[in-house]
Amino acid sequence: LPIALAALVFGYLLGSIPFGLILTRAAGLGDIRSIGSGNIGATNVLRTGNKKLAAATLLLDALKATVAALVAWYLFGKEAGLLAGFAAFMGHLFPVWLGFKGGKGVATYIGTLLGVAPWMVLVFAAIWLGVARISKYSSLAALVATLVIPVVLWFLNEPKIALVMAVMTVISWWKHEANIKRLIAGTESRIGQKG
Ligand code: G3P
Repeated sequence: LPIALAALVFGYLLGSIPFGLILTRAAGLGDIRSIGSGNIGATNVLRTGNKKLAAATLLLDALKATVAALVAWYLFGKEAGLLAGFAAFMGHLFPVWLGFKGGKGVATYIGTLLGVAPWMVLVFAAIWLGVARISKYSSLAALVATLVIPVVLWFLNEPKIALVMAVMTVISWWKHEANIKRLIAGTESRIGQKG
């Protein structure tokens, strides 16, 4: 139990670093929470028009979960790694520093996968890119990809990873509630659109 707790706290603290907020502020672009969807993630950073900043946000938000997972795995074993990745995802969604109002967890979802099931990142990327290319909706691409990943993991005989990723999928979908409503209403902003 102390090991599980350590992995959870370590993962949460790493995950709660809001890179999107930090980078846009450092670049003098103001508070990302008052731009576009108000989200702190890479998709919304892209709405500032700065592609490099958006890419850096995606990378750093993903890697904080990967680092959490790999360090905990190295120190305490694979299950602790999975737990730490999950905690980093939760830290990103509910960061204590931002009054628990965080992101939607797509980058940290990918980062956790990179740590515990690296090949799955290719599956995620293929689905995300395919849906995004057709629809131009970042949210829809993430919703579909996060739905497929746990199923694929299950069939690849990785039930523990599948279960944890499925829990993350449910939580991320819940955080996408406003996006889902906009998708249904046809008012969701497309990639490259400012609004
Ligand atoms: O990756 C988050 C994305 O799915 C939605 O972001 O800013 O359009 O709410 P946003």
